[in-house]
Amino acid sequence: MYTYDQLSRWYELYQSAFYLFDADRLLGNYSRMRQAFAQRYPDVRIGYSYKTNYLPYLCYSLHEAGAYAEVVSGLEYELACKLGVAPQHIIFNGPLKREAELQEALQKGCIVNLDSWAELEMVINCARENPLRQINVGLRVNFQLDQDGKSPLQSGYEVSRFGFCVENGSYHMALQRLEGVANVSVVGLHGHFSANRSLSVYETITRTLCQLAVETLGDNLSYIDVGGGMYGPLPDTFQATDIPSYEDYAEVICSAMHEELRKLEKKPTLILEPGISLVADTFIFVCKVIDRKENRGKRFVLVDGSVHNIKPTMHPHNLPMQIISPDPRNGEAEYHVVGYTCMEKDYLLFGHKAPEPQIGDFLLFSHVGAYTIVFSPPFIKERPPIIATRKDEWLIARRKETIEAFFSDELYHFPSQPSGQEENAR
Ligand SMILES: Cc1ncc(COP(=O)(O)O)c(C=O)c1O
Repeated sequence: MYTYDQLSRWYELYQSAFYLFDADRLLGNYSRMRQAFAQRYPDVRIGYSYKTNYLPYLCYSLHEAGAYAEVVSGLEYELACKLGVAPQHIIFNGPLKREAELQEALQKGCIVNLDSWAELEMVINCARENPLRQINVGLRVNFQLDQDGKSPLQSGYEVSRFGFCVENGSYHMALQRLEGVANVSVVGLHGHFSANRSLSVYETITRTLCQLAVETLGDNLSYIDVGGGMYGPLPDTFQATDIPSYEDYAEVICSAMHEELRKLEKKPTLILEPGISLVADTFIFVCKVIDRKENRGKRFVLVDGSVHNIKPTMHPHNLPMQIISPDPRNGEAEYHVVGYTCMEKDYLLFGHKAPEPQIGDFLLFSHVGAYTIVFSPPFIKERPPIIATRKDEWLIARRKETIEAFFSDELYHFPSQPSGQEENAR
């Protein structure tokens, strides 16, 4: 629980809205998830999905606790290397890996899951150029997940665009193509699906991956990667019921692993790639009330933050909000909380019913740890600073973006600089 004075001190530092990152909560989530799975399966690795929130301090805190890095681009891979993650602890996924990135990841011994024919050919080239090197890869697999004739994929998609399709023979063709190269082995299967996060989906994913692996990979099988996509703790405002816990997921996934792989003497590693479920509830966005007004019967509270800072995907749910004020605020009013951008749809809260905040109060929005700081480009204002708290201490995990960094002349052309053509001519 933060006091008005504490928040004011942080606000004074930058004269700006800011994020609070609770590192203790993150490590608590990680250790509860890890325990839930480790109690049920002998060899589990958790690869944190960088894309969800690649704040270096956050990633680093998880690595210190033992998490692997799950990356989907050269940029994320470089960050993992910069944070000192051992290549063997980096899982390189994603639909588009550049040849140089892929070659480096393979050479260093990362866990690489291939997603396309183009990547398959790159691996084959790499293997032919380095005939003495053994190259191990995983394949991302695509199969039907339908439940009662309905697709559980997010946004209602019928078919996922990722991976090699089992039903049309692509998966078997990919395997055959790689088996034709002596120094390449397929050692793992990857089955991340952005679906409805239900237990039954995980059961299908795990069983299908295990059955395929037993049928087709034989003794080469080293890991089964069921991806991310689980629920973490959810705010009450989402009014969601029957949300599975980490234990529920662990029970379903690990039981399926044990049953499907009972005949194997050497059990493969189980890999998970959680993002949202670890970080969503570890960030709070703190902004200040700047103004209040009424327009034709509707009350608006203007803050120095934006919907972009708390839910860049602009989903319709109001996130939990707490008012921290010098004096208690009582009564109940209905109002909208709106942001600093010039967009009509910049609503941080819509039709909120609660005591109305006063100018100078802080509004705290929680559950904003996933896909906020990575998804929101600096729009109209600089990126806000991030203050991390851990064991009653705090540090600045990201400073407020300066004008110089925002409009860096390493990135942009300014009139005082030679044009690109002149630079090339030199
Ligand atoms: C390959 C892969 N792994 C893991 C994740 C993490 O998913 P979530 O943040 O829902 O746990 C994603 C997200 O899209 C993904 O594409």
